[in-house]
Amino acid sequence: MVKMQSTRYHLIELLTTTEGTYISGQLLSDRLHISRSAIWKHMKELEKDGYVIEGIPRKGYRIVQSPDKVSPNTIQWGLETEWLGQKIIHKTSTESTQEIAQQAARNNAEHGTVVIADEQTNGRGRMGRAWKSAKNKGVWMSLILRPAITPAAATRLTLLTATVLADVITKQTAAAPAIKWPNDLLINHKKIAGILTEMQAEQDRTQYVIVGIGVNVNQTLYDFAAPLKQQAASIKSETGEDQPIVPLIQSLLRSFEKTYDAFIDIGFSGIKTKWETYAYRIGERIRVQTNQTVFEAVLAGIADDGALLVQTDAGETQNVYSGEISW
Ligand code: BTN
Repeated sequence: MVKMQSTRYHLIELLTTTEGTYISGQLLSDRLHISRSAIWKHMKELEKDGYVIEGIPRKGYRIVQSPDKVSPNTIQWGLETEWLGQKIIHKTSTESTQEIAQQAARNNAEHGTVVIADEQTNGRGRMGRAWKSAKNKGVWMSLILRPAITPAAATRLTLLTATVLADVITKQTAAAPAIKWPNDLLINHKKIAGILTEMQAEQDRTQYVIVGIGVNVNQTLYDFAAPLKQQAASIKSETGEDQPIVPLIQSLLRSFEKTYDAFIDIGFSGIKTKWETYAYRIGERIRVQTNQTVFEAVLAGIADDGALLVQTDAGETQNVYSGEISW
């Protein structure tokens, strides 16, 4: 299986680095050390992934069109990450990528394994809520991470992920996203993405963290059920533009890897500053609802440990570790 994946990966690499020109079957077979009929079989599999390949006798092969269909091949080609997404588990349909990732992590899946689905039939959100995940309309993925950090520090990974999402959406699309604490991504005040972080940890040791990312990409407003219509949106519904999904996933993985490595090497402060530049309602009066109480305060930013910082009417700064904000 691994051999098959890497042969196909090299085949795509060879076909695309000779872009525009043809590469002969003989040359491919020499380079990949497999027979010409094996090359042909791989070509057929690539076509199933949605690649359009032209084969001309005595000239050779070339890729005419790469698909925007999610598969380990399409994601890994041109991904250029060192550890994130080197192993990808792809499902056309599954209840929740979080469950698949939990199972894989229990079975020792390596750090950086990515689980991704075209559709989730029982997607999960924070606080026991459901997460709608329509087929091929968004990014539904879970990252398996094995950070050597304490469980308390691991909660910062959620804020890190939110800044990565905001950065990538800003760069790739015409939208200007904001982050609603702790980790909702909003465009035009409506939610387009959410993050669900789950972990397996002992007292002071994190075994693994699963970061679940859901991004509404190409739904139209008709795709959202009535109760969601007011608050939910997609990148397309807010920008009017269809967004190719594979390049978006690749940018997310690349940017996540870079930001995560910087977090492990130099700490949280760069992420904190960036998070604050995207913070929704920063400097404004908000309502904070925790398990114990509800109060109004001004949103001041986030602390080094990832807590929300609010300024109370008594002029004190308070750290909020969990809850919801509204206005
Ligand atoms: C939220 O905003 O409440 C978090 C939503 C997280 C959704 C993602 S989609 C991929 C992963 N699988 C799930 O079942 N949930 C997360």
